[in-house]
Amino acid sequence: MKFSTLSILSLVYATTVLATPSFPSFPQRATCSNGRTASSATCCVWYNVLDDLQANVFDHRCEEDAHDALRLSFHDAISYSPNLQRQGKFGGNGADGSVIKFFDIEMQDPANEGLETIVTAEKELADKYGVSYGDIIQFAGAVSVRNCLFGPRIAFMAGRPAATQAAPPGLIPAPFDNVTTMLARVGDAGLTPEELIDLLASHSVASQKIIDETIPHTPFDLTPEIFDNNFYREVLLTGLFTPGSTLHTGEVKSPFPNEFRLQSDFALARDVRTKSHWVSLSLNQLLMQSRFATAMAKMALIGQNSGILHDCSEVIP
Ligand code: HEM
Ligand SMILES: *[C@@H]1O[C@H](CO)[C@@H](O)[C@H](O)[C@H]1NC(C)=O
Repeated sequence: MKFSTLSILSLVYATTVLATPSFPSFPQRATCSNGRTASSATCCVWYNVLDDLQANVFDHRCEEDAHDALRLSFHDAISYSPNLQRQGKFGGNGADGSVIKFFDIEMQDPANEGLETIVTAEKELADKYGVSYGDIIQFAGAVSVRNCLFGPRIAFMAGRPAATQAAPPGLIPAPFDNVTTMLARVGDAGLTPEELIDLLASHSVASQKIIDETIPHTPFDLTPEIFDNNFYREVLLTGLFTPGSTLHTGEVKSPFPNEFRLQSDFALARDVRTKSHWVSLSLNQLLMQSRFATAMAKMALIGQNSGILHDCSEVIP
């Protein structure tokens, strides 16, 4: 008898606790395709974009299309200049997808050479699924990193409105810019010198095809499919080799015959303003990964009103 009284009591207790309105209820999750769920139904579409992007653009790999998608996420976002706005000119809206919407204008900027294929592929996906160009660029950038071994997860916010105007030319840093120019440019867009160094972890999964067109796919480090800190270490080594037949504008000698070194990376690794942070990332891969993820999430919101966006980070693999 004692036992059953206890049972009834605990049953009553459990029922009361579970029914108490102040007890936090389990949030209702939306059901998406293939049995997946999301905190909000508005995020479901991104699972479908993810499947298509991975199968038909990236081939689930950390190779050229993934690298281009990552590079594109920078070029779209960095095209934002409060300095120009203060001069009464249009300064761009940052990560707004203007490079897709105003393809004919922005793809004439030499800085965007080589990105035609990925821009076209992302435009098709965005149109097919009815998502914005600004969103697809930052989404594809975040997904691309997950295809690389050790690539960290980057937060993804959805809901960027359509671009209204082409971004002004000249806002994307060039490999022949000096450090003062590069820091001023990214500072104008809201990034600190340390954040620029953090973002350059992207060059650990990067290669060139435009600066020296005779040697496409020459990587910036020896392991361009792995998101590791070899890149930061290798840029610190003495330059000895020219991978092509001559050095080109924006190129300096690299430590290995089959490696390409950008003058910008070389200069940032040695400038008094950025050297210590560069060295600290070269020594600490976990720091490099976490700082990259944080800086990327910030970059993805440049020029955007985060208050109107919603968090769909759970869709990033
Ligand atoms: C000072 C800033 C930067 C400069 C001057 C710079 C310059 C360059 C140049 C010249 C290339 C080679 C393009 C080619 O010849 O195909 C390149 C490739 C690349 N960049 Fe940057 N970059 C900078 C920052 C960034 C940032 C912040 C990101 C991403 C967050 C990024 C991602 C990439 C990627 C992934 C590639 C490889 C593309 C491929 O392999 O096809 N870069 N960058
Ligand atoms: C950096 O480049 C800018 C633009 O070309 C130039 O005006 C400036 O003098 C250069 N600064 C240094 C320190 O070389």
